[in-house]
Order: sequence, then structure tokens, then C-alpha cells
Amino acid sequence: MKMVEKPEKWQVLTLTIFMFFNIALSAKTPLTKKTYIVQMDKSAKPESFSNHIDWYSSKVQSVLIKPENQEDGGEDQQRVIYTYQNAFHGVAARLSEQEAERLEEQDGVLAIFPETKYELHTTRSPLFLGLEPHVRASTTNVWSQRVTDHDVIVGVLDTGVWPESQSFNDTGMTPVPAHWKGACETGRGFTKSNCNKKIVGARIFYHGYEAATGKINEQTEFKSPRDQDGHGTHTAATVAGSPVRGANLLGYARGTARGMAPSARIAAYKVCWVGGCFSSDILSAVDRAVTDGVNVLSISLGGGVSSYYRDSLSVAAFGAMEMGIFVSCSAGNGGPDPVSLTNVSPWITTVGASTMDRDFPATVKLGNGRTITGVSLYRGRMKLSTNKQYPVVYLGSNSTSPNPSSLCLEGTLDRRVVAGKIVICDRGISPRVQKGEVVKEAGGVGMILANTAANGEELVADCHLVPAVAVGENEARGIKHYASTSPRATATLTFLGTRVGVRPSPVVAAFSSRGPNLVSLEILKPDMVAPGVNILAAWTGALGPSSLPADRRRVKFNILSGTSMSCPHVSGIAALLKARHPDWSPAAIKSALMTTAYVHDNTRKPLQDSSAASISTPYDHGAGHINPGRALDPGLIYDIEAQDYLEFLCTQRLTPTQLKVFTKYSNRSCKNNLASPGDLNYPALSVVFPDRTNVSVLTLHRTVTNVGPAVSNYHAIVSPFKGAYVKVEPRTLKFTKANQKLSYKIIFTTKSRQAVPEFGGLVWKDGVHRVRSPIVVVWLPPL
Ligand SMILES: *[C@@H]1O[C@H](CO)[C@@H](O)[C@H](O)[C@H]1NC(C)=O
Ligand SMILES: *[C@@H]1O[C@H](CO)[C@@H](O)[C@H](O)[C@H]1NC(C)=O
Ligand SMILES: *[C@@H]1O[C@H](CO)[C@@H](O)[C@H](O)[C@H]1NC(C)=O
Ligand SMILES: *[C@@H]1O[C@H](CO)[C@@H](O)[C@H](O)[C@H]1NC(C)=O
Repeated sequence: MKMVEKPEKWQVLTLTIFMFFNIALSAKTPLTKKTYIVQMDKSAKPESFSNHIDWYSSKVQSVLIKPENQEDGGEDQQRVIYTYQNAFHGVAARLSEQEAERLEEQDGVLAIFPETKYELHTTRSPLFLGLEPHVRASTTNVWSQRVTDHDVIVGVLDTGVWPESQSFNDTGMTPVPAHWKGACETGRGFTKSNCNKKIVGARIFYHGYEAATGKINEQTEFKSPRDQDGHGTHTAATVAGSPVRGANLLGYARGTARGMAPSARIAAYKVCWVGGCFSSDILSAVDRAVTDGVNVLSISLGGGVSSYYRDSLSVAAFGAMEMGIFVSCSAGNGGPDPVSLTNVSPWITTVGASTMDRDFPATVKLGNGRTITGVSLYRGRMKLSTNKQYPVVYLGSNSTSPNPSSLCLEGTLDRRVVAGKIVICDRGISPRVQKGEVVKEAGGVGMILANTAANGEELVADCHLVPAVAVGENEARGIKHYASTSPRATATLTFLGTRVGVRPSPVVAAFSSRGPNLVSLEILKPDMVAPGVNILAAWTGALGPSSLPADRRRVKFNILSGTSMSCPHVSGIAALLKARHPDWSPAAIKSALMTTAYVHDNTRKPLQDSSAASISTPYDHGAGHINPGRALDPGLIYDIEAQDYLEFLCTQRLTPTQLKVFTKYSNRSCKNNLASPGDLNYPALSVVFPDRTNVSVLTLHRTVTNVGPAVSNYHAIVSPFKGAYVKVEPRTLKFTKANQKLSYKIIFTTKSRQAVPEFGGLVWKDGVHRVRSPIVVVWLPPL
């Protein structure tokens, strides 16, 4: 069930809060082996072992249960499929449930994570936009290339790359930085010559995948960095693609395509395969990327949400952060349901998706004279005459009919009913282009893809195989009514190309995953939104733009949507910030992006939410929409060091063993200097009044670092709240030096407990800079 009404979010939250921490491990199967990621305490290696690899492997050997009647000498050698030594320490091994349990009790073993499957955060269908207006005209300075940009290397964990794309043309680039230690791995369809000064590294990680699903079929799948899916090529090009003039998809979105950091380098880590992405492979890629020397990691995939210490990607990202690497992840496409976020750790930058000011209009002209505007990326051999009218049919209007979103699924359309007609299909869970294919196969001549409440007015343009137009929920209702009540209902579809200057924009995408972050309510997530709807970027030569096997078209660029597309925008902008401010920590870069984000659209109204046609909240857009030009010069930053993140974890009621997952050098320990998790020096403020009604005053502490002019005076402005008085102390911060740190307190006193969260903001202003933090105030319902 999709939730649309805002107040319902809160009811869901209070229910979920209790269920959340009771997720049990999957059922036990004593004999079958599964992959487990085993985290080891590196510092506990006995001296008798000369190296860590031997020690890890002897630990695994010591718990193996040898099947009695089987001679299996060769097999045990393959129990260990990965050894991790950098961002993470330990191994991935094939173990039975019982062996895993035994291993968990061994000294030196910190944690065991069962293998989990991750998914790519894309909706896998073309949508709308061209590239150069990703960022407003006023920020063109971000694009002017600097020599230092060439030093930044972004690791992209994805499906690999299609190296022949012009987006990876390295003409004019300087030699690969000397500090780079990565490699160009080869295999079917990928040779050393496929790497260059743009794609500086390409590696594959498949042991977890093969262990789970069997050997890769090299006839049908490239066991090499070559991308046969398209997703990895698209995300890598969005991060750092070289400029390509005249890029377009079948004529749509024509313009110059370029990545956010066109001079930065790409290292492709292929972790996703035809059968999915597996955590042991992802972990190995992060571990390797850290040693290779990446500066930024772009990870457009996610799994379920679990506690920090149980989430192997979160643990690996912690290790990467300790090494100074900025980690940007997609928030997930679980919206508009509340509490649908993934990748919520505070040391990760969690990116949601929003629209841009460009779309691809198409019209539905009904027999009753009405014309409705929707969107489409259709261009193909099947044509509808604009002067003719075609019968139109909707099969979901009877109350006895099945769930409308199951309309137009494979095998559900009767050729006798739909042949020669335009079919109205409700947008549902199956890929939208697939519905078009089903209509085509049943003899339909066109499709109207109708949004339901779950998608509201969010329009997703697709590269359909049949003439098709997507329409918003309100208009869809009228069209369906007409088709179900008029005995001779007719329509025709017209495709109008590319339109720019769409208002309002940006708008938060309906599919973008929403907060609150139940792992820690005190950490507001997502962190920000970035363009993720209808993004044009490079594409694989192995698949058509609809990704359907039946699609024989080949295109150089494709238009996709998803938080998978918004994450690489932030990764690329982070690379630019890293190049200009090499001394900034990952937290400083995130702070700059968050405190300069905007929360108003191009009509000067508050950002809207396309799922509910209402104003979006920080649970939908975090700090707001990225504003790269301003992020270069944020004035103040909220910095956080690795030890601070550990202090945050020390407030999370982890057992010493669970905490050790993060303190692998074991010389880092809790100083317990953080009074509450809300005191982590995060650039967002989430105030959580507990369920005890006698607590009416909460104080959060923050420290800002002056990265603007040495002498600057900042004044605080805070928005009013119905349920609380808010006071900032001191109200003025007077800086006299560069990089000076000053602290302030923000005190919340309950006036009247509110049933739903309240939203607002705190802004520090010096006349030039506006350093804004979103504020959420939550009163947990009394027990
Ligand atoms: C790369 O771009 C340059 C300049 O635009 C062009 O001359 C060259 O042929 C391109 N290289 C490849 C491999 O396509
Ligand atoms: C509803 O179903 C009945 C019986 O299957 C059918 O006769 C009727 O035409 C349907 N009505 C609409 C509006 O599709
Ligand atoms: C912890 O130990 C590691 C390696 O043993 C060392 O590099 C690091 O500086 C130590 N950290 C602290 C806080 O002592
Ligand atoms: C609130 O009440 C709880 C028990 O009901 C008590 O333990 C706590 O000390 C009280 N807190 C304050 C601030 O009075």
C-alpha cells in the first residue's frame, strides 16, 4: 500500500519503530553453504602467524565441519572467496549455518554478516532531461575546468562501463596521477586499451555472485568490466563524462552531454551482474578502491535497512570515510512510502531525486475534443495519424476488476479486445516499458500510461516500443471516465519533442525514498536531493534504450530516472569540491552541499512533492536541492572526524562487540563526550522529544568552522514552531581567523506536544553567505 497523505507517515512511523528492531535472520538450513562476510579484529592476530591472510584462513578452517561420506579436499580451499584488508578486515567465506555460528564465537572474530543481495536504484526506463541545465546558469564557474580537477578519481560501483562511449574519450587529458594504484582488468570484450586517461581503472568482483548463483555463463554475460546493462555507463558518465556535442536519445534532449566533473577520472568497479549485486562483492570493491586511491565513491545501489553494525556497506563506508574518501549513495526508489530509505549511516551522503526544468511533452486528443498533455520519449516505426481517431479502451473500471496496477501485465490482454486500439494502462510495479510491450504484442496501436495515487502528477517519459503517453493522476481519471462511459471512445497521440523551462521545478520525485530514518531519528535523512528524473547520459551498446530484450534499437545515450541517477550528480560535484578544497574532509564536503542547498523552486515557492501535489518536507528532500556554485564557498562548515562518528555510535546502545565492528584498530575507543546522538555535529538538526512527557527542554550543540573570510560576523535566524520555543545561544558568532571554530547551542522548549513532526530551519548569515540547516522537531507519542 502506498501512503500519500502526510499525516499517515507519522502513524506508520510509530508502528514501524517497534517492528524494526526485531528483524530475525533467515531460517536455518544446516547443510547448505552460504556466503558469510566475517569481520576480524586485525590487531588480535597472534604472533605465530606471519600475515593476516593466513590467520583469517586458519580461523575459517578451524570451524569447518567435514561431511563424513564425502571426499572434498579441493572444496575447502575455495571456502574463502575474498580477503579484505583495507576499508574492512576479514574474509568472505562459504559456510554452513552451523559453521558460521561456530566462527562467530571465535576470538578475534568481530562480526558475521550473511550475504545480502543489493539492487540498482534505477527505474530502468527512459525519462526526461538534457544535460547542460543540470545546474543553473549562475553556477557556470563550477564547470570551468581546473588543473586540480584532473587529480580527483571517482570510484563507481556499478555494472561496469561501455568504454567506446564518447563520454569516456580522454583527448586533451593530462597523464594519470602518480598516486593512482588501480588496475585495468581484462576479460571478454575488455582489453587494456579500453582503459585510458578517463577510465583509469576497471575491476570486476564476482566471487560472491558465482557462489550464490553458479558460474557466470561467459556466452551470455561479459565476465569483464564491459557493461551490458547500461546502468554503470550512465552513472559513470554522469559523474565525470567528457563533453559530447549533439548528444540525444532518438532526437530527444539534444545538447552537449557532460558529467558533473568533466575533468575527473573514473575507476569502474563492476559489482552488479545479470543476477544481481552481492554484498561480499560490494565490500571487496570498496576495500580495493580504498587501496587503489579513489577520492570519491559513487554507489547507486542499496539493500534493506538494518542497524549500522549489521550493514556491511555501512561498515565499509565507515572505513572509507576514515581514509578521507567521500561516499555518496542513492537513497532508494521506495517512495512515496515513508520510512523507505536505505544507506542512512551519518558518514554516508544519502541522495534523493528530483525533477529538472526539462520534459518531453506529448498529447492525448480525445474524441470528445479534450486535449491532455503528458510526456513521452516514443520514436519508432509504429505511427499514429494526428488526424485520425483510434478506439480507446480501459479494462480496469469494473469494481470487480483486479488491482488496476496489475493491468497490462504479460498475458493479461485479450487480442480480441485490444487489437487496433489505444489501451489505457495504470502505472504499476512492473517496468513501464514492459506494459507498452504487452500492449504491442496484443495488437494495440498505442498506450496511455495512467498515473495512480502512488505517483500523483510525477511524469516519467519512457522510450516505449509502442506509441505511448504518460499522464498524471488527475487527467488520467478524466480519460478513464471517458473511455469507460462513452460507447465509442476514441483518441490519438501526438509527440512534441523536448521542452525546457518547466515550472515548477525542481519537484521531489514520487519514487524518491523518504524519511524518517528509523535507525537514528536524530540523524535527518535523506541528506539532499539532486536531479534524478529523465537524465540523459551515455549508454551501453549491448541493449536498446528500453532495456527490453525485444528492443533492437541501439543508442549512444539514454534517458533514465532513479535515485541511481541523482547519486552520481552529487559524487561528481563532490569531486569538484575536493579538487578545489583538497583539505576538506568528507563531512566538510557534505556540509557545504547541505548548508547551501535551496528549498524553493523556480516559481519561488517551497519545493513540492510530486506524489502528493503538496509541499515537500525535510523527510522528502533533506537539506534541499544541491546548489554546486554556492557549495564552493559555503562560509561555514560543520566538520565531523572519524572519532566523532564513533562517539555517535557510542550513543547507539551497541554492545562492545558490535562497536568493535567500527573500531577495528581497537585503539579507538568511546570517550563518551557526546551527550546524545543529536549532538553529532551534523549540518541538519533533528530534535526528538522522548515519550516521557516530563522532558520539555532539549539542547543541541554544534560547532562551525570558518572557511570564508577571516573576519566574519554571523547572525542566527531560526524559524518559529507551533509546538516549541527555540533559542540560539549565542545569536552572533564573531570570527577573527580562517579555520576558526566557534560553538553554539540551540535550545528547544516544548510549548505543546504535537502529534506530527514540525519542520523549519536555522540560518547563519554574514551578509554574503547563508548557512542553512533544516530542523525537524518530533514528539514521540507517550507510552
Ligand atoms: C576523441 O575525441 C577527439 C576530439 O573530439 C576525436 O578526434 C577522436 O577521434 C575521439 N576518439 C575516439 C576514440 O573516438
Ligand atoms: C464490466 O464488466 C461487465 C461484465 O464483465 C461488462 O459487461 C462491462 O462492459 C464492464 N464495464 C466496463 C465499463 O468495462
Ligand atoms: C591506531 O593504530 C593505528 C595502527 O596501529 C595507527 O596508525 C593509528 O595512528 C592509531 N590511532 C590512534 C588514535 O592512536
Ligand atoms: C521523568 O520521569 C522519569 C520517570 O517517569 C524519571 O526517571 C525522570 O528522571 C524524569 N525526568 C525529569 C527531567 O524530570
